[in-house]
Amino acid sequence: MDMIIRPRRLRTDERIRSMVRETRVSADGLIYPMFIMDGENAVEEIDAMPGQNRYTVDRMDEELERLLDAGVKNVMLFGIPDEKDECGSQAYAENGIVQRGLRRAKERFPELYLITDVCMCEYTSHGHCGVLDGHYVDNDKTLDLLAKTALSHVEAGADMVAPSDMMDGRVAAIRELLDENGHVTTPIMSYAVKYASGFYGPFREAAGSAPAFGDRKSYQMDVHNRREGLKEAMLDVEEGADIIMVKPAMSFLDIVREVKDATDLPVAAYSVSGEYAMVKAAAEKGWIDEEKIMCEMAVSAFRAGVDIYLTYYAKELARCIKEGKIG
Ligand code: PBG
Repeated sequence: MDMIIRPRRLRTDERIRSMVRETRVSADGLIYPMFIMDGENAVEEIDAMPGQNRYTVDRMDEELERLLDAGVKNVMLFGIPDEKDECGSQAYAENGIVQRGLRRAKERFPELYLITDVCMCEYTSHGHCGVLDGHYVDNDKTLDLLAKTALSHVEAGADMVAPSDMMDGRVAAIRELLDENGHVTTPIMSYAVKYASGFYGPFREAAGSAPAFGDRKSYQMDVHNRREGLKEAMLDVEEGADIIMVKPAMSFLDIVREVKDATDLPVAAYSVSGEYAMVKAAAEKGWIDEEKIMCEMAVSAFRAGVDIYLTYYAKELARCIKEGKIG
């Protein structure tokens, strides 16, 4: 037989496979999303996300310690306030939930890199990501509040802010206010390409942020659109974003690759609550191998081009990386 090219030669055993591996995953690129809530001395399990909890600020430390032990140093905070109103005023309150969490984490865990989700939906009584004009989310009025929220996070200790609202022009508005206040070195990770996805279902239960009426399709993107994703990414590059995020991850890896090719910024992808919940549910039934699936999903995102991967599995992934189960 005259067969010169035999791809299997490079798959003979783990020594050669690891030598020629094209994608290397590092815990440095993992971000763990964490929920903090008003109240005292409480940790609540999130039903639709087994293994994930909401913590009051005085109970954050236990989770932050577990993260550092696992080798994860990047955390993204989401706040769940007791009080909500029309204009989400707890989002930018000096003593809001995220602001208090930041002060505590900064003081006790200076080695952590603290990122905050900047959005209104957990703070508004109607659950939309901005202020309303009738039933329509008013873009330009919302920009001021988002910028104020981002500034208050940075002043409370955030190392980076991540707007997730999908209002037009919010990266520029946040950049301008941060710079005016001397925070020129604080990066913005923009949820630039965020689709109106069914995969956010469990998060909305976790954060109590489901919209009271309608949906988010007048600001989040139509899942059918690819070129519009590039348009959103490039607009945020022009407005001064430092990192571009695509969300969700698994069903949008084609978009990750395109954004990666089109920009020279680091690219992030967020493996969202529904992705996590699906894996957990199938694993609980014994239908899939949770660890294998979790690793494969992460590797696929890195292979598609992400530099940064946000996942509720950050601790478990970091362990798999350490143990050499993932490249
Ligand atoms: C806030 C926000 C959401 C998520 C991240 N930031 C919810 C939404 O847009 O409805 C979803 C994260 C997840 O599902 O894990 N706007």
